[in-house]
Amino acid sequence: MFPCVVICTITLLFPLGRASLPLVINTWPFKDATAAAWDALQSGGSVLDAVEKGCARCETEQCDGSVGYGGSPDETGETTLDAMIMNGDTMEVGAVGDLKRIKNAVGVARAVMEYTSHTMLVGESASLFAENMGFIAEDLTTNKSMNIFSQWLKGNCQPNYRKNVFPDPSQYCGPYKPRATLQPNKMRRHANTHSHDTIGMLAIDQDGHVAAGTSTNGLTHKVPGRVGDSPIVGAGAYADSEAGAAAATGDGDVMMRFLPSYLAVELMRAGADPSTACKTAISRIKRHYSEFFGAIICANTTGHYGAACNKVPGLSQFRFMVANTESDAPLLKSVDCF
Ligand SMILES: *[C@@H]1O[C@H](CO)[C@@H](O)[C@H](O)[C@H]1NC(C)=O
Ligand SMILES: *[C@@H]1O[C@H](CO)[C@@H](O)[C@H](O)[C@H]1NC(C)=O
Repeated sequence: MFPCVVICTITLLFPLGRASLPLVINTWPFKDATAAAWDALQSGGSVLDAVEKGCARCETEQCDGSVGYGGSPDETGETTLDAMIMNGDTMEVGAVGDLKRIKNAVGVARAVMEYTSHTMLVGESASLFAENMGFIAEDLTTNKSMNIFSQWLKGNCQPNYRKNVFPDPSQYCGPYKPRATLQPNKMRRHANTHSHDTIGMLAIDQDGHVAAGTSTNGLTHKVPGRVGDSPIVGAGAYADSEAGAAAATGDGDVMMRFLPSYLAVELMRAGADPSTACKTAISRIKRHYSEFFGAIICANTTGHYGAACNKVPGLSQFRFMVANTESDAPLLKSVDCF
């Protein structure tokens, strides 16, 4: 009797056999990050602890070279970090952009949330704040990032994110000067997953507390000072314990113009299921930039989740990680792209 009651109840509640709480979900197959977040929840940590620990694991492991130190050198060869964390109960956010010389960007983002009344700190000042809060300042350059940088210099600084300047940025290095007339806008893509693999992570516990976070070292060869979508509230991630959470990855310069994470959460609030919310957020961007590369993960407060993507370079699917009580371990999931 008893096992049947339990099993039948579970089957009735979760007909797809996939939704349960707590839930951790993150972009890309960053399994160790999922495990770190899951362990944090299992050992009594909050959803904020889970998101921070999960993203921090990627910063330490330099996930795909696009999170943490030693990746994505900018035009001057320096690695800089963007990160954010959001508390879906209080709607508090901590974020850092263009953070230099500090490895644990998501930790600094959480410190911004907990030790200031601000939402976002950037650049050298963010680094100084971090040092004052006890984070260690160290060089984020590695042999690998130096090598990526010197290859770029040798290859006439290609790819290059400048436009409407001379000398011609598709062939020459700078310094650049503005052209007198602007050319018609062309969507320039640099199809390389390894310059876009931000970790975005959502965590929801048994009591319905929701948190979201991101961490990235941005775009390889970016113009110094460039901050992407990851630390922007509603773009890189969004969390609201009354509705759910979402996090995005991809062409951040394009995606941040549409606040896809905010849009997805609002759609779930209005009753959309997570997959539909994710798809609609991607479609909204596609209307204007059909060739953009991006993906988004969504979860609602009952632990149902979904994902959607557009044009993942070299792949027809987007892969992400999920851990919940059903799996009790990180599971690799994938979704077909538009
Ligand atoms: C980095 O390069 C330096 C000098 O080229 C070399 O001595 C060092 O062993 C390298 N470090 C790693 C981790 O490969
Ligand atoms: C979450 O989404 C699932 C799937 O659409 C739905 O059955 C469930 O009611 C949603 N939960 C909430 C709280 O809206």
